[in-house]
Amino acid sequence: MPVSVDAAAGAGYPVGMPRDLPEALPRAKDRPAERVAKMRPFLTMQLAERAFELQREGAEIAHLGLGEPDFPAPEAAIRACAEALLERPARYEESAGLPALRRAIAADLEQRFGAKVSADRVLVTPGTSPAMLLAFSLLLEPGDEVIYATPHYPCYPNFIRYCGGVPVPVPTAPENGWKLDPERVARVTGPKTRAIIVGSPANPTGAVQDRATLERLSELGVPLVSDEVYDGLVYDGCEATSALGLGDRHFVVDGFSKRYAMTGFRLGWLVVPEWAVAPARIALQNLFISANGFVQRAGVAALASGAESLAAMRADFAKRRLRLVEGLRDLGFEVQRPPDGAFYVFAGARRFGGDSLALARALLERAFVNVAPGCDFGEAGEGYLRFSFAVRETTLETALERMARVLPELEVAGAAGGSQ
Ligand SMILES: Cc1ncc(COP(=O)(O)O)c(C=O)c1O
Repeated sequence: MPVSVDAAAGAGYPVGMPRDLPEALPRAKDRPAERVAKMRPFLTMQLAERAFELQREGAEIAHLGLGEPDFPAPEAAIRACAEALLERPARYEESAGLPALRRAIAADLEQRFGAKVSADRVLVTPGTSPAMLLAFSLLLEPGDEVIYATPHYPCYPNFIRYCGGVPVPVPTAPENGWKLDPERVARVTGPKTRAIIVGSPANPTGAVQDRATLERLSELGVPLVSDEVYDGLVYDGCEATSALGLGDRHFVVDGFSKRYAMTGFRLGWLVVPEWAVAPARIALQNLFISANGFVQRAGVAALASGAESLAAMRADFAKRRLRLVEGLRDLGFEVQRPPDGAFYVFAGARRFGGDSLALARALLERAFVNVAPGCDFGEAGEGYLRFSFAVRETTLETALERMARVLPELEVAGAAGGSQ
């Protein structure tokens, strides 16, 4: 009997995971302030948390939801971290980051992009996310607009609003690999535009922006906030361009999470223009004091030794990517072309119903397959599911097999077999 995806999505979820912004809330002492009350839930995280709960109850989950490599962190990084903890007390460190790590990051930027960046402009943060928070904290006054491509990383609009800004999404489409059209960006750029986010390679679409696009964006005279956390994870000879080669008014956020499989270490950095160095240091001192010293020492070791593990990881991801695309197409998902970068397939799922959250929940509850719902990545992502291929092949095969069993049972709502 067909099962409605809504009915299949049962208990275990926080009540009312709202996708629309709540109306302005009256102030009450037991209510969060608007800047938090208006934050949209990170649905991918919520589904993963439900998956962990099911796991604790004994279910074996195929995790394709969260964006983290299943590879271990580079061994030298683990050793450096352990040795640092054993050899010296863990104390506060310099807010801007250990000088050795900042120099190593600057050297790495020169090696990857030929960009000469003084270590003074590099600020170490406890993950890429705090680097982003810091960038928007430095840039935005209330009402300032920030442009970005959509479907987008779920946190971008939340960070922008949190810092008083106004998100301005620019739609992209699968036909051309979800690439950003710089002329569309130019059309929405105006006196209120304070920044343009470039995520390349992008989450969730895997889009890699070419140099000409970045150059055109840079010509618009607005700082780019370039999220380069997936740099190095590119396939079929694709290459990502760094905003650092395009002038020194741009901001770069990056970190160790993806390239070095160090999501749980929580280590990232922000490169800022000269004018922002002193205020950024003050903000860092106040907001975070410092990133963990032992983790920063792991960062130094990862930069010194991680190139080999990155190459191995990329080679494996390249194979898994093709297998996942093929498997999803066989199941009836729409994938126009394999992604150029990052480690996700963003697949059209409308033939299984238009509600991606209900579908993701149904796959989790009925097939024990955890995926990310497209609606988490903005309205333009509705009707899609995001599958990570940063997981071992056996997990991919298990997920494909389980979905093959469950998908035909799900009620096909709306345009069965319809295009995206
Ligand atoms: C595009 C993008 N930027 C930033 C982040 C956050 O990275 P971190 O774990 O280093 O905070 C993620 C995490 O998935 C991401 O996909």
